Amino acid sequence: MAKDISKAYGSNIVFAGINLAIDKGSRVVILGYNGAGKTTTLRILAGEETADTGEVQYGHGCKIGYFAQEHDTLDLDSTVLENLQHVAPNLDDTQARSMLGSFLFSGDDAMKPARVLSGGEKTRLALATLVTSKANVLLLDEPTNNLDPASRDEILKAIAKYEGAIVLVTHDEGAVQALQPERVLLMPDGDEDLWNDEYLDLVAEE
Ligand SMILES: Nc1ncnc2c1ncn2[C@@H]1O[C@H](COP(=O)(O)OP(=O)(O)O)[C@@H](O)[C@H]1O
Ligand SMILES: [Mg+2]
Repeated sequence: MAKDISKAYGSNIVFAGINLAIDKGSRVVILGYNGAGKTTTLRILAGEETADTGEVQYGHGCKIGYFAQEHDTLDLDSTVLENLQHVAPNLDDTQARSMLGSFLFSGDDAMKPARVLSGGEKTRLALATLVTSKANVLLLDEPTNNLDPASRDEILKAIAKYEGAIVLVTHDEGAVQALQPERVLLMPDGDEDLWNDEYLDLVAEE
């Protein structure tokens, strides 16, 4: 739950007085043009950035999984399989490989060091680890950018079937349709509304 959060960088007031409640399993999309403060909002929710005013409260049992495009959370010296096992040590090899398969990593790919993956493959692996981890609130910042069509399809399927809460920043209409949001947060004003398909027209606006 974000209460009355505000953020400025020097004289640049990014936003002020944002409120957002994220209930169990809820699905929220954040829309706004470039520079509207979408990434800053996610970073504050993820605890990677502090707000100037207000606070973020984490409910009992809340476990955040944050997908940031710029700096992913992969261990580049470990293999694809090891990266998945780091976040889900209880998975045996067969289960881990099956999860990797659903994110389009073949048997051979599983043994590659994460360092050699392409940008799109790293994105896929980062999302596979989030979906496999015990996170129950995913904060996803433009997760389908720069993905080849097959990878994008897998990410959309993963978003559609994920059972926890998702807060999604995107300019990709397909990602919004996969999410089936209940609510929308419009940046930089921070107005919240129930989702309706007329908001689809705003999604691609940069
Ligand atoms: N670390 C920072 N230092 C200074 N300004 C920043 C910093 N991070 C973001 N900003 C500024 O805050 C505004 C919002 O940025 P951001 O949250 O990345 O927008 P969005 O994700 O909606 O495109 C922009 O004007 C950006 O330049
Ligand atoms: Mg951004």
